[in-house]
Amino acid sequence: MENKNLYLVTGGAGFIGSCFVLQNVRVGNKVINLDKLTYSGNLENLDEIKNASNHVFIRGDIGDEQLVRKLLEKFQPDAVINFAAESHVDRSILDPDVFVKTNVLGTEVLLRVVKDWWKNLDEEKKNKFRFHHISTDEVFGTLSMDDPAFTEETPFAPNSPYSASKASSDHFVRAYHETYGLPTVITNCSNNYGPRQFPEKLIPLMTLNALAGKPLPIYGTGENIRDWLHVEDHCDAIYEVLTKGRVGQTYNIGGRAERTNLFIVNKICEILDDIKPRSDGKSYKEQITFVKDRLGHDLRYAINCSKIEKELGWKPKHNFEDGLKETIQWYLNNEDWVKNIQSGEYQKWIEKNYKERQ
Ligand code: NAD
Ligand code: TYD
Repeated sequence: MENKNLYLVTGGAGFIGSCFVLQNVRVGNKVINLDKLTYSGNLENLDEIKNASNHVFIRGDIGDEQLVRKLLEKFQPDAVINFAAESHVDRSILDPDVFVKTNVLGTEVLLRVVKDWWKNLDEEKKNKFRFHHISTDEVFGTLSMDDPAFTEETPFAPNSPYSASKASSDHFVRAYHETYGLPTVITNCSNNYGPRQFPEKLIPLMTLNALAGKPLPIYGTGENIRDWLHVEDHCDAIYEVLTKGRVGQTYNIGGRAERTNLFIVNKICEILDDIKPRSDGKSYKEQITFVKDRLGHDLRYAINCSKIEKELGWKPKHNFEDGLKETIQWYLNNEDWVKNIQSGEYQKWIEKNYKERQ
């Protein structure tokens, strides 16, 4: 395995982390995967590599100092890539505490333990090491319809407990670079879509509700805009920044695919009408319902990703409409994954989040 790297990935059983782990294990990098397996962590996401000798899964918390120290000493990683987080805005509105625990306190523990281990490495290894923190465009707050897109210089103005906790973790990462010289990079990405996304998020929720004959609950007017990026394009971008990005910098990652929620839900219905028509011959659009808006609902996110495009030559490869169709097909082809994930905890969440919106 010449020139292969060893990465400590956190949150590698979740939606984006598992995509990054799969990509890296496939090309022969070794991955130590530390994941707490919260409700959104799922070992089935890693089925393809369950017998791979270059993947080691460890169930644990990024806030567990002893465990993280032991892993660093044992495996001596070339980089730590931090995907682990509580990731859903609606959950953060109903229960912010755990967002502070994992996203803020957990990230700070991880940084501190990594910094204490890193400072004793020899010079060459020390310079080569990276701490890559995965963050979101939501730290920048919200845009009006005609504002220019977020750049790396846009001031932070988080509006939800989720984005506040992510903004706080970004600040800690920056501070660990400025104060201790830890070689960090941060990427702030727009909304991801693709296979294996937990079905509390817009695209899988609407797809699976449609197929189950349930209402398609659009918050408010549905005019809110997100910039959508395929998860594989996101993970390619992370790899570029990890291996070629400048230390201490932040990079925005986006899909150049701004769409309203209403457009997306209509599109999902049209795709399903085509590939899996309703038995009564009617359109899935009949199931669209408008429900009580999300508190503090950000109107628009848009990413200016010219920095990563110019400096590192990265560009998204997926076209949104094609990627959406493939994603919907993935959910249709993976009934067992869906069935397993929709048991237990998931039902309780749906009950809690949507009951009061009717
Ligand atoms: P996800 O909820 O699917 O996965 C999160 C993973 O982290 C899960 O496997 C979970 O078990 C694990 N985890 C949670 N708390 C942990 C802890 N204390 N210790 C160890 N593991 C823990 O989320 P995702 O969509 O894959 O997001 C991954 C990262 O990307 C997050 O940091 C998120 O803020 C960021 N992000 C997500 C999006 C998006 O559209 N999904 C966009 C931009 C940035
Ligand atoms: P989501 O997938 O939760 O991502 P984020 O809040 O991080 O952008 O939501 C995407 C958009 O879809 C957001 O504007 C809220 C909206 N939305 C609905 O209209 N209905 C829903 O049931 C969900 C989950 C989201």
